[in-house]
Amino acid sequence: MVQGVCLAEGHAWDDKALSPDQRAAKLVDAMTLDEQIALLRPVDGASLASLGIQLPPSIPAWMRQPKPAGAIGSAGYVPAIPRLDFPALQESDAGLGVADIGYLRPGDAATALPSSLALAASFDTGLAREAGSVIGAEAHAKGFNVQLAGGADLIRDPRNGRNFEYASEDPLLTGDMVGEEIAGIQSKHIVSTIKHYVLNDQETGRTVLDARIDEAALRESDLLAFQVAIERGHPGAVMCSYNKVNGNYACESDFLLNRVLKGEWEFPGWVMSDWGAVHSLKQSVDAGLDQESPQGGDPDYFAGLKDAVTHGDIPREKVRDMAYRIVRALFAVGAMDDRPAPGGTIDKVADAAAAQRVAEAGAVLLKNDGQLLPLHESVKSIAIIGGHADIGVLSGGGSSQVTPYGGSFRDARGQTGIAAFLSPVYDLSSPLKALQALRPGTRIVFDDGSDPQRAAELARHVDVALVFAVKPQIESLDAPDLSLPYQQDALIDAVATVNHHTAVVLETGNPVAMPWLPKVKAVLEAWYPGQRGGEAIASLLDGKAAPAGRLPVTFPAGTAQLPRPAIPGFDPARQVPFEGAGRLSPFPVDYPEGSNVGYRWFEKNKFTPLFPFGYGLTYTHFAYSHLLVKGGQDLQVSFKLANTGRTAGVEVAQLYVAVPGRTHRLVGWAKVDLKPGESQTVTITADPRFLASYDATLHRWTRLAGVYDVYVGKAAGVSTLHGSATLAAQ
Ligand code: BGC
Repeated sequence: MVQGVCLAEGHAWDDKALSPDQRAAKLVDAMTLDEQIALLRPVDGASLASLGIQLPPSIPAWMRQPKPAGAIGSAGYVPAIPRLDFPALQESDAGLGVADIGYLRPGDAATALPSSLALAASFDTGLAREAGSVIGAEAHAKGFNVQLAGGADLIRDPRNGRNFEYASEDPLLTGDMVGEEIAGIQSKHIVSTIKHYVLNDQETGRTVLDARIDEAALRESDLLAFQVAIERGHPGAVMCSYNKVNGNYACESDFLLNRVLKGEWEFPGWVMSDWGAVHSLKQSVDAGLDQESPQGGDPDYFAGLKDAVTHGDIPREKVRDMAYRIVRALFAVGAMDDRPAPGGTIDKVADAAAAQRVAEAGAVLLKNDGQLLPLHESVKSIAIIGGHADIGVLSGGGSSQVTPYGGSFRDARGQTGIAAFLSPVYDLSSPLKALQALRPGTRIVFDDGSDPQRAAELARHVDVALVFAVKPQIESLDAPDLSLPYQQDALIDAVATVNHHTAVVLETGNPVAMPWLPKVKAVLEAWYPGQRGGEAIASLLDGKAAPAGRLPVTFPAGTAQLPRPAIPGFDPARQVPFEGAGRLSPFPVDYPEGSNVGYRWFEKNKFTPLFPFGYGLTYTHFAYSHLLVKGGQDLQVSFKLANTGRTAGVEVAQLYVAVPGRTHRLVGWAKVDLKPGESQTVTITADPRFLASYDATLHRWTRLAGVYDVYVGKAAGVSTLHGSATLAAQ
């Protein structure tokens, strides 16, 4: 027991009447220098040894070590300090559920939620909070107190292999949705990170690329998404990314960490590095990095921390602040008072239902000619083709991979060992079985889609053909292009040629090209829909649920429309997941789009996308009228929205505004549920930050006085009601 830190009943920091800051200060001051430093140097919390497969010689020795005693089995671990009753740090991935990519905790599972893209497509902040609380509650029940969630990088490239972990191309939608998900996780007394700070916007060369962008553009785009999410969600930690930003590694950028994050935004939490993203000791610590996550086989820079303090290179007080930030975050979310411990209760049924709600709310109906969907009662025979729809639904690969309750299946396509382990995983939730259950009177037949002609023969003799098309994506690899793999374009074409009632269900982690689009009647983008994806898709197809999702990302007509038609640094010969990108030579990635990300780039260049940001059909129709725009200090619009169709439906009315001389931006939206014939007056107030521009010379946000173009619509570039507002300077 340390002198002076013990109350009669316990420790001084146990006093809940004190603020998290006061409690953390007392606890951190009771720690020795070694104890504080230990907090700053987590180790790997798991080992590939538990995979139980023959590991190839290329797998280094450190990955074969057994997992450390006391670790639950996850990405990062710091042992407890029993004399201070301080808990171990147990850090787990990630934002789609408590991850277990198959070897972390053999035999364990968790609720696999749909991809973040699906969640963001719901435009539903309440649902984001609910999804977060599912993750938080399960993490708590498994004994984790840090969840490496909160992917907030903007989608700048629709080939990025991790877009399924991110929310959108828009800073407001991303900030609001990610912020709410973080708040949901932390409501269960778990620290959540937000990551990857910042501009980790492609996976190709992620550890060596240098993202180059001017300050104002950065402030108005990726940084703004993080800023909004941090304000809304108050994450305990920020994970700095692998890449460089304007010449400095993100984890040793004084501008990003000290000046913007900890200075201007007054972020009280800690900065942890991504795994292996540290390149120095003193430079990183001076820049504001607090914690070096496990480096794998790379040099362990923070091993020199004690010597640096002893020699006066790094002040003792600095180490105290680094540790204090961690301890404070644990107090702030309640992780010290309500300690996660393995063996807690998980309401699997409720969590699965939440997963299904997200999948249903996030699926986007892209085409529905002749109202093919929902499937009419008169449809007596259906062919379901491809995509392993008889077994399950696709999920995204990498550190966020969740082993779902209900089981999974790997499509290894003849691969063995590590390659098989890294192959696409399907959650066992069969759309075929779910549709059969909903339509017992319909003859439903299946073909695996491996032979287009055979599939077409089957499709020729049914009322409706449903082709399930998949595109796997995995962390560390970008897709080479926008096309569907496994010759699925030819499959869809062959089926649609013989059956003019063909619908395509997409399970993708990104926008894809659709050369067959004119030939099919309907397209439903289901993303990676999680462990109840099969049931969700079946409900949407059958009309038990109505599609309500809107695209959180522009679907381009081709790569020529992108700011970078070729992915910088992309090498088709290096398409091996998690291959040491560190061996690549550094290269720059320029951002000619600046803050005109996604739909704003399309507007600036007058490009017509395949489908715009914000787009999505429903099973009904909505009419907009009576626009009223109020300017002055704030911008507020109101209008009348009516459901003019025959079924209930959800409209996502979007408000776009152009600062004079700039492209239009999303400044707010309203999600409105209306019964047939029902109407409502809708009011949307613009988020004031999105009416301002960053002035890098004055180092502040400014708002010009002037006339701002305003439109309300169903998607970016689709102006249904148009007006303008005169706004005062701010
Ligand atoms: C990923 C992070 C993840 C970490 C721990 C890294 O490779 O980029 O998102 O949290 O691994 O698994």
